[in-house]
Amino acid sequence: LQNGLALTPPMGWLTWQRFRCITNCQKYPSECISEDLIKRTADIMLSEGYLDAGYNYVGIDDCWLEKTRDKRNRLVPDRERFPNGMKAIGDYLHNKGFKFALYQDYGNKTCMGYPGVLGYEAIDVQTFAEWDVDYIKLDGCYVDISKMDTGYPYFGKLMNESGRPMVYSCSWPAYQKKPDYDSIAEHCNLWRNWDDIQDSWSSLSSIMTWFAENQDTIAQYAGPGRWNDPDMLIIGNFGLSLDQAKVQMAIWSILAAPLFMSVDLATIRPEFKEILLNRDIIAIDQDSLGKQGLRVWNKSMTEIWSRELSDGSYAVAFVNRRDDGTPTVMKASFEVMNLPEQTYKVQDLYKEDEDRFFGPDGEFYTRVNPSGVKYFKFVPKISNDVEEKTYFTSR
Ligand code: GLA
Ligand code: GLA
Repeated sequence: LQNGLALTPPMGWLTWQRFRCITNCQKYPSECISEDLIKRTADIMLSEGYLDAGYNYVGIDDCWLEKTRDKRNRLVPDRERFPNGMKAIGDYLHNKGFKFALYQDYGNKTCMGYPGVLGYEAIDVQTFAEWDVDYIKLDGCYVDISKMDTGYPYFGKLMNESGRPMVYSCSWPAYQKKPDYDSIAEHCNLWRNWDDIQDSWSSLSSIMTWFAENQDTIAQYAGPGRWNDPDMLIIGNFGLSLDQAKVQMAIWSILAAPLFMSVDLATIRPEFKEILLNRDIIAIDQDSLGKQGLRVWNKSMTEIWSRELSDGSYAVAFVNRRDDGTPTVMKASFEVMNLPEQTYKVQDLYKEDEDRFFGPDGEFYTRVNPSGVKYFKFVPKISNDVEEKTYFTSR
């Protein structure tokens, strides 16, 4: 959607994957969907460098509403968990330099059964604008799927007419068998293509497979203002090992994916935090060219993913999905990696292998942990750069 927003993939934090629909604040005071959770999270994002790294949207997913609208048919946030209303949340976030993201659903009900927008589209867009919302995630539960092709554009039109710039995140294609991506990319800033991510390697892995197998259809639609969305980052939660977390961050950046953390930032372990704050990898995700990368090679459960960047560099991820129990040596030529033949300085983005040079007469080797990744940036070497004595190898 060319509305001047989301020129790079949006980044931030969203409640759903980690906090789901926890509404009992007596029992789970630090986890329930509430004003307190949002404020605490924003405070941490500000003081611990997440905002600085680019994570600037703070979002409330499902389960923030009262079960019924008010007498004027307006949406009402849960009175106990959001005692000061939503405008107060927006103000709090804006004062700290954040933007405010909020979930709703195009249907009669949200996926968790709260009131949806169907039949109240205009009044709800107006309400969001009054609350100073900056980003709407519009889900697609409880609505006739055939209605979406006109309904999502209609809601987008109302957003546009509200006069308030709001990023439009659509779940539209995730519900359809043969989505009309031309229309989706025209009307949405980002869109969920497929299944929800769950807190496991198998879920992450299945999403990677889906994005690889459908890349010929979807990758062409990504670009400034319009992004495929493989769903939230699950890094720092219960299900992924450190190596698996590195895989998600690498592949999401290759895919030019929106980066929405969904994790308890008060308790996240430092090694996972370090992955989320990896500036070099964030820079790849946010590259101004906005060209979505591809899985360019796939054999015996080892894969190479590659993305072209605006400065002529390439981001290349070597993914090992095997469970051998010992690292697998992966070997690659220029052709296999989809790289023009020239000499590159190769930087390991997780700083595990040493930086090295790689040129036309070489073959590239790296060793990749089981369910892990090695992630490199191939930077074209400027002729009188440095000497090229180490041409690669780390067998
Ligand atoms: C759907 C969406 C999720 C989340 C839940 C909330 O499943 O795909 O991302 O928003 O609804 O109920
Ligand atoms: C094949 C399999 C491996 C392993 C070896 C053992 O290469 O793909 O997983 O079983 O054989 O020789």
